[in-house]
Amino acid sequence: MSNSAMIDNVIPPADVVKRAARIGAEIRNIKLSGDLPDQTIAAINSVLLERKVIFFRDQDHLDDTQQERFALRLGKLVPHPTLGATNGTGSILELDSARGGGRADIWHTDMTFVDAYPKISVLRGVVIPPFGGDTVWSNTAAAYLDLPPPLQRLANELWAVHSNAYDYAVKTRASEADKKYHDEVFTRTIYETEHPVVRVHPETGERTLVLGDSVLRFVDIPKYDGQRLFDLFQSHIVAPENTMRWNWKEGDVAIWDNRATQHYPVNDYGEQHRVVRRATIDGDVPVSVDGRHSVMRIKATRQPPTRVA
Ligand SMILES: [Fe+2]
Repeated sequence: MSNSAMIDNVIPPADVVKRAARIGAEIRNIKLSGDLPDQTIAAINSVLLERKVIFFRDQDHLDDTQQERFALRLGKLVPHPTLGATNGTGSILELDSARGGGRADIWHTDMTFVDAYPKISVLRGVVIPPFGGDTVWSNTAAAYLDLPPPLQRLANELWAVHSNAYDYAVKTRASEADKKYHDEVFTRTIYETEHPVVRVHPETGERTLVLGDSVLRFVDIPKYDGQRLFDLFQSHIVAPENTMRWNWKEGDVAIWDNRATQHYPVNDYGEQHRVVRRATIDGDVPVSVDGRHSVMRIKATRQPPTRVA
């Protein structure tokens, strides 16, 4: 049975509602749980691989434990390397706008500062403001296909250094509290990882661009040229035709293929409260088109700040 026939048997085509030609689908009439049959999980994964980000409305029955149980069906859960897990859960990270670190208004793929960054993120809307706070996703496989062949060949050869200690203060519109949190907690251990700019997706074989605002520099390229190359490739990722935008409601669950997307949480909700909780699924070390693997280095582990008398 072909892949699409397999999906059609489990998730009727009418229940997969595309959001844009190149990315995104809402899946209707599924109640997410850790107890879903294997074929439903396989069908969800197939739609995810094709659409890159999928959405489920009205999942209000999920609490943290049930979100984890469902996410576990997609693979092994991994906590955030420097932020850890929210109290009482093994792996879920809470992003709360009222606390430091709740806003990340940059284009990024989750946790590319480590080598085996997560393959999938599962994000649940817990407190959603009446306006603002949408998230935008882009399809980094479509962005690669958009490049003319000579630029694809250039991208295939490039490597870039990603770090959690990127220039957050310059790139974000975040508050002073968020910047302080970034400096003291998010970068408590500084990671740097060299990734190929083009990775081969381990499940689909697609080539996807690996960039985003946690890129510090390109390997063997001076800063002047590196900035221009970054802007060139990243501009294809953020081209509106390669993106879709989701307007959250409480109880929504978004699941994205973190190997084939970037996302941008729009920081346009002012002082309104917004809370989302994320489970992340362990990924593979990226492999370049010529078969080389990403390499991670731990640069520094900071001591907790010492009190000055
Ligand atoms: Fe993110």
